[in-house]
Amino acid sequence: MNRKIIVFDTTLRDGEQVPGAKLNIHQKIEIAQQLKRLNVDIIEAGFPASSAGDFHAVQEIARSVGDSVSITALARAVQKDIDAVYESVKLAQNPLIHIVLGTSNIHVEKKFNRSKDAVLQMGIDAVKYAKTLLPNVQYSTEDASRSDFEYLWKTIEGVVKAGATMINVPDTVGYAVPEEFGDLIRRLNDRLKNLNDSVILSVHCHNDLGLATANTLSAIKNGAQKIECTINGLGERAGNASLEEVVMALKVREGSYNCHTGINTKELLRTSRLVSHLTGLDVQVNKAITGENAFAHSSGIHQDGLLKDKQVYEIMSPEDVGAESMELILTARSGRHAFKNAVEKMGFDTSDAADFELLFEKFLTLADAKKEVYDHDVFYLVTNHRTLGD
Ligand code: KIV
Ligand code: ZN
Repeated sequence: MNRKIIVFDTTLRDGEQVPGAKLNIHQKIEIAQQLKRLNVDIIEAGFPASSAGDFHAVQEIARSVGDSVSITALARAVQKDIDAVYESVKLAQNPLIHIVLGTSNIHVEKKFNRSKDAVLQMGIDAVKYAKTLLPNVQYSTEDASRSDFEYLWKTIEGVVKAGATMINVPDTVGYAVPEEFGDLIRRLNDRLKNLNDSVILSVHCHNDLGLATANTLSAIKNGAQKIECTINGLGERAGNASLEEVVMALKVREGSYNCHTGINTKELLRTSRLVSHLTGLDVQVNKAITGENAFAHSSGIHQDGLLKDKQVYEIMSPEDVGAESMELILTARSGRHAFKNAVEKMGFDTSDAADFELLFEKFLTLADAKKEVYDHDVFYLVTNHRTLGD
């Protein structure tokens, strides 16, 4: 069966935690509207207990965008945070309370300085309280990938019995590696299915070792039904799993994963550019899917192959992510085939082979001098050659 993977976007919460990425309320609403166009399933709109401004922004997003997309926000396992989430998301059609509490020894001992049982009880009490406000409650076992498995499971069992409807397993510090994280998810999934198979198992991966996308995919392969991610991979430190990478990996490799998302992939590039523009954080040029060079080909061998058949060097079409078309960057390494294609695309005739050879020589001289040759350079080169001759 081809499973639907629920996409939970946390650009406006984890992504907004990035230094320098402060967004005002209008910018947050604009991003939320674009996330809705992208067709994400859940938007995490902020952390309302953190400030009056964040509370207000979450409330406005719930009011203006929350008609067809589920809206949530983050709470620590304390009543005041849960109240703030409830009050800010309640106007959405499908609101969700998201509670986070650590499960690793280091969190329990150093952060809370309490016994494991006391921390577990805090989580159970928080879920019971949240359930008096809303039916849908997600519980995140912070630092799950560094937690003792039996305590992690005891926590999940306790909060599910208290009414949690989604269990999110974060690799909070990006410590996991794909095989190990996949194995953790498979073990949890097996137990969860026996306990209550209507509870959704989710993952939230950070990118400290550059493995957030790989870990997310490994989790999906091992039964995760929901993924948390951000546009452009924004998020604490090295960021979160990049939405565009996970979604396109599932699409391009649908045969391997047998899963799909509801994402309108043609909106990916627009969303990436909007988030980059509003946060002021550039997307690296070679970023998978949405980087400036993601569909640019510069080597002559590749350009020749692509002009024969795009599939020779393309695993997805640029149009699928909302880019115009593949881009052939002309350089001194581009061969005759790519140069001829560029000249003909501008409407010039290349049927005189001897004349074309002269033109190609001039192109190579220019390319050696300039490194990259753009359309306007080609146009100038051809018109000059045709009017002035040699
Ligand atoms: O990284 C993390 O553990 C989080 C939780 C709030 C899900 O961001
Ligand atoms: Zn996180």
